Amino acid sequence: MSDLEELPSRYRANLINSCTGYKSLNLIGTQDSDGNKNLAIFNSIIHLGSNPALIGFTFRPLTVQRDTYKNIKETGVFTVNHVQEVFIDKAHQTAAKYPTNTSEFDAAGLEAEYLEGTLAPFVKESNIKYSCTYVNEYPIIENGCIMVVGAINALYLNESFIAPDGWIDLVKANSIAGIGIDGYVKGVAPIRYEYAKPETKPQKK
Ligand SMILES: Cc1cc2nc3c(=O)[nH]c(=O)nc-3n(C[C@H](O)[C@H](O)[C@H](O)COP(=O)(O)O)c2cc1C
Repeated sequence: MSDLEELPSRYRANLINSCTGYKSLNLIGTQDSDGNKNLAIFNSIIHLGSNPALIGFTFRPLTVQRDTYKNIKETGVFTVNHVQEVFIDKAHQTAAKYPTNTSEFDAAGLEAEYLEGTLAPFVKESNIKYSCTYVNEYPIIENGCIMVVGAINALYLNESFIAPDGWIDLVKANSIAGIGIDGYVKGVAPIRYEYAKPETKPQKK
């Protein structure tokens, strides 16, 4: 394979964005202190631990206005909403650079809702969503990105998606995954396995 640095930048970006595997796809909902709503798609949300329940995600360098980051710093709260098959196109559109006073909810055609007094808007159409409080951030000093850490406050989903042991069937919920920065993919029937132990063979549940 050729030197990565010699590849044309767009090609390299697509290649590197895809090679790390399928991504979670979520819309992050925020609001500024003047009440301007914001919604943007992120493919970098990861699990950072269950006790306490933490998630993390990365922001690209703050070389341009990043409303999501600004709003989270201003208010300390945000919502995370799974992207689902029926609104992939709308979710993708939230990546467009709209002015601060334009709500991506309106621009993309998604409905904002506020649940139990949370100060950040949720996506009504989304089947799995949760509210978070800003906890901390860590600079990725090598490239200027920032990893933000959030604590999960409240999780909203239909109980029919949850297995008796708490596992969520993301396929049943129609949540989708991402490839690179512009590819969207549906899940297929999941296969679950029993906890792996050295003395037992892989055992399907
Ligand atoms: C599929 C997809 C995934 C994205 N993931 C991220 C991400 O993880 N981090 C990021 O900073 N931007 C990401 N973006 C770009 C943001 O969605 C885009 O910059 C958006 O305009 C940010 O909105 P804001 O300025 O209102 O915060 C992604 C875009 C797409 C299409």
